[in-house]
Amino acid sequence: MDHAIQKTPEREAFYRKIDGENLSALWNVMGDLITPQPKSPCRPHLWRFDAIRSFMLEAGKLITAKEAERRVLILENPGLRGQSKITTSLYAGVQLVMPGEVAPAHRHTQSALRFILEGRGAYTAVDGERTVMEPGDFVITPSMTWHDHGNDTSEPMFWLDGLDIPMVQFFDASFAEGLGEDQQPITRPSGDSYARYGHNLLPVDGKRASQTSPVFNYPYTRTREALESARKMDEWDACHGLKLRYSNPVTGDFAMPTIGTFAQLLPKGFKSARYRATDATVFAPIEGRGRSRIGDQTFEWGPRDLFVVPSWHWVTHEADEDAVLFSFSDRPVQQKLDLFREDRGNV
Ligand SMILES: [Fe+2]
Repeated sequence: MDHAIQKTPEREAFYRKIDGENLSALWNVMGDLITPQPKSPCRPHLWRFDAIRSFMLEAGKLITAKEAERRVLILENPGLRGQSKITTSLYAGVQLVMPGEVAPAHRHTQSALRFILEGRGAYTAVDGERTVMEPGDFVITPSMTWHDHGNDTSEPMFWLDGLDIPMVQFFDASFAEGLGEDQQPITRPSGDSYARYGHNLLPVDGKRASQTSPVFNYPYTRTREALESARKMDEWDACHGLKLRYSNPVTGDFAMPTIGTFAQLLPKGFKSARYRATDATVFAPIEGRGRSRIGDQTFEWGPRDLFVVPSWHWVTHEADEDAVLFSFSDRPVQQKLDLFREDRGNV
């Protein structure tokens, strides 16, 4: 598929002629369209949380959350600058809500995840219910649900936003609207969705149209407990350590239809075997220190740093202390489209 087509004056004249009719020759571009392996402009990269944090506090003095609607610094992949993408299919940003601030209620087609980095006690309201957020919590805003954020504490609150913006853009399916109010009406007590859906029990006649998990806050205390209990029993996976995926209790599928989310424990001293997959993945270590080798680059990480592994790049992880990594990718979509492929490097 990858052979250069020779140029001749006759061929060049023909291309110019058809160009005026909005036609072009496949044989000149086929090698770039159908590649023998994934070939992405997405590049490996790591953002230090400390640097982002100080820029965000500076932004906090420049613009209020209300005026900005969302005060976010976008993590732009160095190979995809100007496109608001961290991978070709996903968006990521770091959001700051200062004490006393509100990010006003709106809704949109794009699904969002929050992964809490710093601060405790600020809330996100989704569909009439508020949840208070703590570091390491994974919070979901399903497609077209009203959501607003507020911080009644005395500390700034930082979290990672992950959205399927590039996917929705690709399908030209974006709808969005503001509520016209800072805060949506609260119709259900805090913890209501967790009580109904978070204990291996489901409402007996519950019918849900949405493919997103009805549990919209997966608290870190529970995730950490699950990892800690499993480490005593389970054998470590050579590539992943001990890795769990967040699931929708109603369907057993991923917690979100467009974004797969994972939590993994790498014990102190663990060195993973190499692994590659077609789902470019964003990692957010929440505990511990270590390093990851991505392709031919090595990135040292600590808590709250953020890094991205592009599609089909070999990756290995090393942990200097017990480390917990949150991560997300477009795996649910690739699996549904029969595109997902992984390679465990002959381990
Ligand atoms: Fe939003």
